[in-house]
Amino acid sequence: MLDVTFAAPALPAKGALVLLVAEGAAPAGLWKAADEATGGAVGRAFAAAEFTGKEGQTCTILAPGAGLSRILAVGLGKEDSLSERRLEDAGGALAAALSREPSAALAADGLTGAQAVQVALGAALRSYRFDLYHTKIKPEDRVKFAALSVLTGAADAAAAWPNQAALVRGVFITRDLATEPANVLTPVEMANRIEKLRDLGLDVEVVGPEKMAELGFGALLGVAQGSVNPARMVIMRWNGGKNGDKPLAFIGKGVTFDTGGISIKPAAGMEDMKWDMAGAAAVTGLMAALAGRRAAVNVVGLVGLVENMPSGTAQRPGDVVHSYSGQTVEVLNTDAEGRLVLADVLWYCQQKFDPRFMVDLATLTGAIIVALGHEHAGVFSNDDDLAGKLLAAGLATGEKLWRLPMGREYDKLLKSDIADMKNITGRPGGSITAAQFLARFVNEKPWAHLDIAGTAWATKDHPTWPKGATGFGVRLLNRLVADHFEAG
Ligand code: BES
Ligand code: MN
Ligand code: ZN
Repeated sequence: MLDVTFAAPALPAKGALVLLVAEGAAPAGLWKAADEATGGAVGRAFAAAEFTGKEGQTCTILAPGAGLSRILAVGLGKEDSLSERRLEDAGGALAAALSREPSAALAADGLTGAQAVQVALGAALRSYRFDLYHTKIKPEDRVKFAALSVLTGAADAAAAWPNQAALVRGVFITRDLATEPANVLTPVEMANRIEKLRDLGLDVEVVGPEKMAELGFGALLGVAQGSVNPARMVIMRWNGGKNGDKPLAFIGKGVTFDTGGISIKPAAGMEDMKWDMAGAAAVTGLMAALAGRRAAVNVVGLVGLVENMPSGTAQRPGDVVHSYSGQTVEVLNTDAEGRLVLADVLWYCQQKFDPRFMVDLATLTGAIIVALGHEHAGVFSNDDDLAGKLLAAGLATGEKLWRLPMGREYDKLLKSDIADMKNITGRPGGSITAAQFLARFVNEKPWAHLDIAGTAWATKDHPTWPKGATGFGVRLLNRLVADHFEAG
C-alpha cells in the first residue's frame, strides 16, 4: 500500500511535487513558492498547456529546476464545490500520473486537514496493483510510486490517516480475493485466508460440510456437491461495541467459480465467474477494515463459500433441496446458485445472532447489469430506513446504489409445482425476483440485498480504482457503520 506520511508545508529540495489547482485560482502558498523557485516555469507551463485547473485535467512539468524531478498539477474544478468525491478523484489522478516517481510531495497547504486526507485516500486507493503472477515485469514497466508525503499545516490530518489506511487495507483485501484465479482461491483457500485476519483481532470460525449437513444446509450443499472442492461457511466477528449489544450482520455470496453447473454457462466470458465471490470478499474486507480501525460496534460477517461445477455428482435441474429454514426449493436452473447459498446463510445468521439488521452482498444476477449498467449496484430492502442510510452512504463514498422495487406480485412468480418455491422465474424483473427469493429466507428482520454483479469488476480504469476488482461495498458499508452505528 502507498506509504502516506505528513509534513509541514515547505518546498521539497528534490523529487516530485504535486500541486492541486482549482479552476481560476491564483498562485498562492507552495504553488507560488514553486513557481518562484523555478523562475516562473510553472506559470509558463500552465499557459503553454492551457492548464486552467479543470476537473480531471493534469499538467506535468519535467525537470522544472529547483532540484525537482517534476511538478504535477492536478485540476480540482470549481473551488466552490470541492466535494469529497472530487478530492478523492484528484488523489487518484495524481497516483496514476506519478507511476514513474518512487515518491512525491503533495502541496496540501490550501486544504483543510480532512480534505488533505481525502486526497491521500484517493491516491492510495488508485495505487492498487496485483502482480503476483507476472514473473517477468521489465524494470521500466514496473510502477515505482510508493510514497506520498502530504505537506499540510493542519494538525488533524496525520491523526485522521490511520483509520483511512485501515479502510484501504480492507479494500485491497477484497480486491486481492476477487482477483485471485479460481484454481488458487477455492472455498478452503478463501477460508484459510480469512483465518489469517485473526491477527487483526477478528474472531473467525470456519464451518465445514459435515457440520453444515448436520445443521441441514441443503440449499448451499446442493450447489457445492458437484465440486471436488468442499464448501465452507466462515463466520467473522468483531466485538468493538458494548457487551451484549446486538450485532450488525453482513453476509456475502462466495461462489469461488460459477460454471453454471449442469445448466452450464456459455464459454465466452466464463472467466469472469472467478469473481463470483466478490460479495464474500467485500464482507471480508469490510470486517478487516472495521477491526483495523477498532470500530466501536459489534458486527458479524458471514460468507458462504462454494464452487458451482458440473459433474457426475452435481445437482440436476429439477432436483428438490431442503433448505436450513425448512422450506423446500425446486432447483430448475443450477446457474441460479447464489440465492441457494445465501438462503441458508441468511437463515443461519438470524437464528444464531439475532442481528439488528442484515445486509447481503452478491454478484447475483446478470439482469442487474442490464438494468443499471456499471454505475450503480441494485439495492432491495424490506426497510425504508436501512435503504435510505445505504443510499446516503453510497452517495458519500461514490459506491452508488439504486433502489429497485419488491412486492407480492413478484414473490408469487416463485411458485413451484412440486416444492415451496422454485429458484428461477422468467426473464422479466430477474434481479427483483432473485431478491424476492432471498426475502423468503429473511424472517421479519430489517434486511437489504445489494446486487453487485455490475460493480464488482471494472473493465477500465476509474480515478480511484484501476481496472479489475473494484472492492465495491467495503467503503460503502464502512461508511454506513461509521455514520450511524458507532457509539461516541
Ligand atoms: N453469478 C451469476 C450472475 C453474474 C452474471 C454475476 C454476470 C456477474 C456477472 C449468477 O449466479 C447467475 O448465473 N445468474 C443467472 C440467473 C438466472 C439463471 C436466473 C443469470 O443472471 O443469468
Ligand atoms: Mn450462476
Ligand atoms: Zn453466480
